[in-house]
Amino acid sequence: MNTRIDSMEAYHQAYEKSVRHPEKFWADIANEFTWKTRWNNVLNWDFKSFDVKWFVGATLNITENCLDRHLEKNGDTPAIIWEPNDPNGKGCTLTYRELYHAVCKASNMLKNAGVKKGDRVCIYMPMVPEAAVAMLACARIGAIHSIVFAGFSAQSLADRINDATCKMIITADGVYRGAKALNLKEIVDNALESTTSVETVIVFQNTNAEINMQDGRDVYWHNAIKDCANECAAEPMDAEDMLFILYTSGSTGKPKGVVHTTAGYMVWAAYTFANVFQYNAGDIYWCTADIGWVTGHSYIVYGPLLNGATTLMFEGIPTYPDAGRFWNVIDKHQVNIFYTAPTAIRSLMAQDDEFVTPYSLASLKTLGSVGEPINEEAWNWYHEKIGKRNCGIVDTWWQTETGGVMISPLANITPTKPTYATLPLPGVQPVLVDAEGKIIEGNNVEGNLCIKYPWPGMLRTTYGDHERCRTTYFSTYENLYFTGDGCKRDHDGYYRIIGRVDDVINVSGHRLGTAEVENAINEHIHVIESAVIGYPHEIKGQGIYAYVICDHLPEDEHATRREILEVVSKVIGPIAKPDKIQFVTGLPKTRSGKIMRRILRKVAENDLSNLGDTSTLLDPAVVDAIIEGAKKI
Ligand code: WTA
Repeated sequence: MNTRIDSMEAYHQAYEKSVRHPEKFWADIANEFTWKTRWNNVLNWDFKSFDVKWFVGATLNITENCLDRHLEKNGDTPAIIWEPNDPNGKGCTLTYRELYHAVCKASNMLKNAGVKKGDRVCIYMPMVPEAAVAMLACARIGAIHSIVFAGFSAQSLADRINDATCKMIITADGVYRGAKALNLKEIVDNALESTTSVETVIVFQNTNAEINMQDGRDVYWHNAIKDCANECAAEPMDAEDMLFILYTSGSTGKPKGVVHTTAGYMVWAAYTFANVFQYNAGDIYWCTADIGWVTGHSYIVYGPLLNGATTLMFEGIPTYPDAGRFWNVIDKHQVNIFYTAPTAIRSLMAQDDEFVTPYSLASLKTLGSVGEPINEEAWNWYHEKIGKRNCGIVDTWWQTETGGVMISPLANITPTKPTYATLPLPGVQPVLVDAEGKIIEGNNVEGNLCIKYPWPGMLRTTYGDHERCRTTYFSTYENLYFTGDGCKRDHDGYYRIIGRVDDVINVSGHRLGTAEVENAINEHIHVIESAVIGYPHEIKGQGIYAYVICDHLPEDEHATRREILEVVSKVIGPIAKPDKIQFVTGLPKTRSGKIMRRILRKVAENDLSNLGDTSTLLDPAVVDAIIEGAKKI
């Protein structure tokens, strides 16, 4: 992008302009894209009712910006490099022209199946290029994609399909996870037993697993696509038409469908990618996320493609065939920019150095981190062992709701400090507030992180329930977007994210609501009540600690634990399985019936020195029993 920042001086200038003249600032950036018609107005906003619109009145199609726009000059540039799960397997590279035709063909495939503008399409796929093709095909014809991470259970998948009344699901026969292959289609079949909206299931053949195909509903991708034309006109979309829904967990209730719209998200994904990673033509960029998470949306697919970049997609896991796989792939494809999660860094750091030392890693120039706070030890290891002290580290703070990176260094420009996400990107106006909602001025302070001005990539609503969106994000503090994170601003004005201050836990970079996990545990027939909290975990960042009350104390605790884990896997997915389960006979509750999680947290952390005030408890004796029981966990 021409509007890319290339020095600290330019950063400060851009930041200043983005605050003083936000509309002019974003119009200049938006002008770099292809529009069918221009906007009448850059921004309309109101945080009270929560109504935000960017590039009002403009029409465009994001895939013209991801694909068509690059064809003339860069049609032969690799768009996607695919590295399969099997290190000896056959990977592939799709140039921009090839990807363009693949997307057009898939768009026609969706149209043939009756998918129209505004319809919701669920994507439940492994990390194969067809997953990106499916996303872009939806966007090309104006269908709204809702990607569900292929590690979620049938029940979670069904909930998401039902919430968005998806008309189609695009899936695969199976997914590889290292040495194992899992049958995905079977999970889809189970999910479809409790849904009614899906008319067509398109199945990409990936593992050649034996699967059931239901006549009239299920069709193989290769059959459905084979006679489709390789050109497809891009549907004109309003700037504020929905681009995608992505479900994410919050403090209460079921996961909500965060909605991103077309133009603002596009501008934000493109601008943040270009600036944070300082991508240059010819660079090979690799983000290890799954497309089922927002990082995969914005920084495997949309951000890189909008910039004409080469994005590497990896099907496998970091430890297959051994813990050197990431480093092997970096050397093999000469990766220049590498973006991963602290969990992966910590788990690889815990392995022997011999998994790193055989690799040169000399192609690297930038390393990124996302999804959870990165501890100092992991930051230093990443910097020294992987970056050889030669690569800028970008610790990027953002959320599903923010659409793209909000606070981050600009690679090899912003001076970094371990564990600090450093400074807000242009357009981001962070504030810290105290418990009363008062804005905390100055430096060397700590508070709850809010954003006081709209940015183009922010969520617009939660699918089907705008009021839930407003109350979740805009009612805690008046006229501010509340992130749910606690944050420190140091003497240099640098931001350091401390972690969630609400009932959301972050396990290996995956967001889970404690209530969601509790509801899953409570589905076990003998469970009466449970309380779930996060506790510090060396590899996962946070582990899940569950206090569980059963109708009678289990005779065989091991067996009941195993059953509970199975139930949680079935209801949510294996990522939500508690690491520790303690059977208790009571929970510390206030007289009004509220669980005092603070106490449970202290017990799980084994920090009993200061349990705080327990005098408001209904029955203080339960605390002693819990402390006693915890010793045996
Ligand atoms: C956390 C992931 C510290 C944070 C992109 C946030 C981080 C939640 C960082 C969003 C970071 C993300 N440092 N914490 N660099 N990045 N988080 O929606 O608590 O899956 O609120 O989006 O992850 O998770 P989500």
